[in-house]
Amino acid sequence: VRTAAVIPAAGRGVRLGPGAPKALRALNGTPMLIHAVRAMAASRAVSLVVVVAPPDGAPEVRSLLDAHALPERTEFVVVPGGETRQESVKLGLDALPDGYDIVLVHDAARPLVPVDTVDSVVEAVREGAVAVVPALPLADTVKEVEPAEGAPEPVVATPVRARLRAVQTPQGFDRKALVHAHETVTEDVTDDASMIEQLGGTVVVVPGHEEAFKVTRPLDLVLAEAVLARRRA
Ligand code: C5P
Repeated sequence: VRTAAVIPAAGRGVRLGPGAPKALRALNGTPMLIHAVRAMAASRAVSLVVVVAPPDGAPEVRSLLDAHALPERTEFVVVPGGETRQESVKLGLDALPDGYDIVLVHDAARPLVPVDTVDSVVEAVREGAVAVVPALPLADTVKEVEPAEGAPEPVVATPVRARLRAVQTPQGFDRKALVHAHETVTEDVTDDASMIEQLGGTVVVVPGHEEAFKVTRPLDLVLAEAVLARRRA
C-alpha cells in the first residue's frame, strides 16, 4: 500500500509576528517547510509529498524544494493553497494520483516531528484504522469559557484532564474516507480527523512526541532552534 503526505503550508502565520508566510521562515537557516518536508520523506513508507503552497507562492516553493537536498526515492508535487487550512488540504488531496491508498496530513508548522512518530501513524492505518492521530496528555488544566472580548470570561466547564489529549500531526487516513469527509463536511474544523468523527467514523490516538509541537508563537521558534541544536550536538 502506497502512502502520500499532504503538507498544508499556505498559512500566513500571523501569530508568529510580521514577515514571510510562516512555512517559509527559517529555522537555523533552513525554511520551516523544508524541515517538515524532510520529516515526511524520512519515512520509508512515504513515496510522495504534496506541498500546498501559499495561493500566489507555488513557483517560489517549487524552487525552494529544488534548492534543497531531498531524498531521491520520494516524489514532490507543489500546488497552490486556499483561504483556510481545510481548503488547502482539499486542494492537496485533489492533486493525489491514483495508487496512494493512505494519506498523511502534516502541518508545515510542525517541522521537527520524529520519523518514529510518522511511522507509527502509518502503521496504525496499515493495520486497519480509518483515521489515526498522534497526541499527548496535557500539562495544563483546560477550561471551556464563554468567550467575551475585553472582559473576564465566565467558565462553562472543566473537562477531566486525564481524558484529554493534545493532538498533533501527521494525521493518517484511509484515503477514500478522508476525501469523502472533505467533500461532505462544510463546517470549519481545526483538524482533519474531526471531519471523520462528524461523519460517525472512528478516530484512534497513538502516542505523539514532544518535538512534534506546532510553531505558532515567537517563543516556539526559540524552542525549535534549541531542539535542532541539541540534535546536532
Ligand atoms: O493556522 P494553523 O497553525 O492551524 O495552521 C496549520 C497549518 O495549516 C500550517 O502549516 C499552515 O501553513 C496551514 N494552512 C494552510 N492554508 C491556510 C491556513 C493554514 O495551508 N489557509
